[in-house]
Amino acid sequence: MHYTAYPDRLEIISYTIDTYSCDLKEHIREGLTAPQKYISSKYFYDAYGSTLFEKICKLPEYYLTRTELSILKESAPEIMEEFQKGDIIELGSGANWKIKILLNATDEANLSDIRYMPVDVSESALIDASEELLEVYPDLKVTGIVADFTKHLEKLPTLDNRFFTFLGSTIGNLTEKEGIHFMKNISSLMEKNDRFLLGFDMLKAKEMIERAYNDTQGVTSEFNKNSLNVVNRELNADFNPDHFDHIAFLNAEKEQIEMHLKANRDVSVEIRDLDLTIEMEKGETIHTEVSRKFTQKSIETLAEGASLKINRWFTDPRKWFSLVEFIPK
Ligand code: SAH
Ligand code: AVI
Repeated sequence: MHYTAYPDRLEIISYTIDTYSCDLKEHIREGLTAPQKYISSKYFYDAYGSTLFEKICKLPEYYLTRTELSILKESAPEIMEEFQKGDIIELGSGANWKIKILLNATDEANLSDIRYMPVDVSESALIDASEELLEVYPDLKVTGIVADFTKHLEKLPTLDNRFFTFLGSTIGNLTEKEGIHFMKNISSLMEKNDRFLLGFDMLKAKEMIERAYNDTQGVTSEFNKNSLNVVNRELNADFNPDHFDHIAFLNAEKEQIEMHLKANRDVSVEIRDLDLTIEMEKGETIHTEVSRKFTQKSIETLAEGASLKINRWFTDPRKWFSLVEFIPK
């Protein structure tokens, strides 16, 4: 049981408490024995990985967060205008910067009728962000859900009048197929008056995108290698992160950044809890993340495929990032 200074206003529900270790074992066995090795990007986010991501958000090269925050600040009053009561469900919530902008644009008298429901695999990020919010908004109630948004959406204990948000372009961390599946899932949960606000990083010049994922301070490299630390700790493995190089490049055909960890020598890794030894040749990679970049057309196709209607579209003057509100058709 997690200690909280706000027992009346903060509830934490975990859907991963019994399954995390089992899911990770299965995933790593499958991913590291596949012809193209892979580890899901959701395993970046232990407590350390979550703080590294917050550091990435502040890097000069990483324009995404800064741009999305500027759009949010500008459009929050319009976005929140009609929302007087109900649940705000933030998927992949991470830190609380963005929800604060939305709550600040809400009429104070309505705050006691709003429940905030952050959903994240990173329990530490979820609890820290929630507790800080409760301190700032004395009338707010928070139900934090530690869950995988690709698996547990239908379990969310939400009532009516729901405002779903999925910000930061985290939708881009799902492959095209996973993204379609995810949108269909959300769509099937949405009722007449529900809304869904999504952040999309737009396709732009290769150099600018690649710079955002290859920062000069090496924070993204450390973030990328953190999945090896997670496997070492959780599965008793002996990856040496120094034996891998961070690589991130734009796959122009697929309109996505791909991050890999490339072995800089022949590597042999023992994963004791799986009774498995992984051999990698110098130059071989582990694929760790896709980050898709979107166009107006690909967003419209996503909406169409999930039978959702685009209600409002907010962007910045340079059209680097889009905040798009979807409603049921
Ligand atoms: N929404 C925030 C954080 C984005 S980082 C922002 O816009 O800045 C991505 C967040 O999604 C992290 O907090 C990570 O822990 C979470 N996450 C990644 N994969 C997830 C999954 N499959 N299910 C639930 N949360 C996930
Ligand atoms: C959370 N997600 C949208 C980030 C992205 O840009 O794809 C994760 C990230 N990976 C490397 N840098 C940041």
